Amino acid sequence: MQYKSANSRTLAAMKGLLIVFACVSVTHCVEFYTEKPSYMQTCRINDPEFVKCSTSSIQKLMIQLGKGIPEVEEVIGTFDPLKVKEIQFAQDNQGAVQLHANLTDMVATGLSSMIIKESKVSKKDYSWETKVFIPKLRLEGQYKMSGKILLIPLNGAGHMFIEIENLNLLMRTKTRLYEKGGFTFYNVTKLRMDLNPGGVKTNFENIFNGNSKEVERSTNLFFNENWREFFEALRPLITETVETTMLEILQKVFHLIPANFFVEDIPTSTELYKKGKKK
Ligand SMILES: *[C@@H]1O[C@H](CO)[C@@H](O)[C@H](O)[C@H]1NC(C)=O
Ligand SMILES: *[C@@H]1O[C@H](CO)[C@@H](O)[C@H](O)[C@H]1NC(C)=O
Repeated sequence: MQYKSANSRTLAAMKGLLIVFACVSVTHCVEFYTEKPSYMQTCRINDPEFVKCSTSSIQKLMIQLGKGIPEVEEVIGTFDPLKVKEIQFAQDNQGAVQLHANLTDMVATGLSSMIIKESKVSKKDYSWETKVFIPKLRLEGQYKMSGKILLIPLNGAGHMFIEIENLNLLMRTKTRLYEKGGFTFYNVTKLRMDLNPGGVKTNFENIFNGNSKEVERSTNLFFNENWREFFEALRPLITETVETTMLEILQKVFHLIPANFFVEDIPTSTELYKKGKKK
């Protein structure tokens, strides 16, 4: 085990390979980096300044995502603007919020301006807690919706946008370490976000199915004037959208880049899980 991993590391270094293809089967090959890309900053979790280092390391990664990481772009396209997968959302409860929404052709802009305020990594289970600030996040696309927002019954379809300003978010990410080609990788398994916006602008076209342009205008105005309540009503929908999108990106990135390039002294999965609680 030791020998094999050391050997493949040396071999990769000798050949000067940046990317290797690990083929599980003929049809299923996964590519990953075996050399540290120059934009990466590596930290040591046992260093007292780890959080500071990790914050700067993740910031650099985000900047690079904005510039484009080819292997990631192949799968998700550009990071900013970003194509968002179709969202089907249903929420029913006894409260004021009953909403069914389908969002399609969605594009998110603003992610590349994100500022990493703090990136913590737990030594216990290598979960992450990340504080992020996004000056302006815009979601735009086609919607189809029925239900109520702020007690207003809606039944419409058309173009919409939601622009979230000064968005502070706390991201809690669960990971599971695994080994590949002599490196340790993060398998990003779960992601939860707590969104805290500083302002919201929105417009839903055709919100009453074309019944009255005047009522449509005044309703959108009402949403904008009461943006906090509007956001609360749509919080589950927006949170789910952002969570699903970020999870997919992070999974792709961390299957590609070894965790060793982020945290030099990360344990192997065997080391971490054998001394931890039994799973
Ligand atoms: C959303 O799409 C699903 C599946 O296509 C459909 O069952 C549902 O009625 C749609 N909801 C709205 C509000 O259009
Ligand atoms: C990552 O985790 C998911 C589910 O938690 C699992 O299905 C998948 O096989 C894991 N991938 C790797 C490479 O370990």
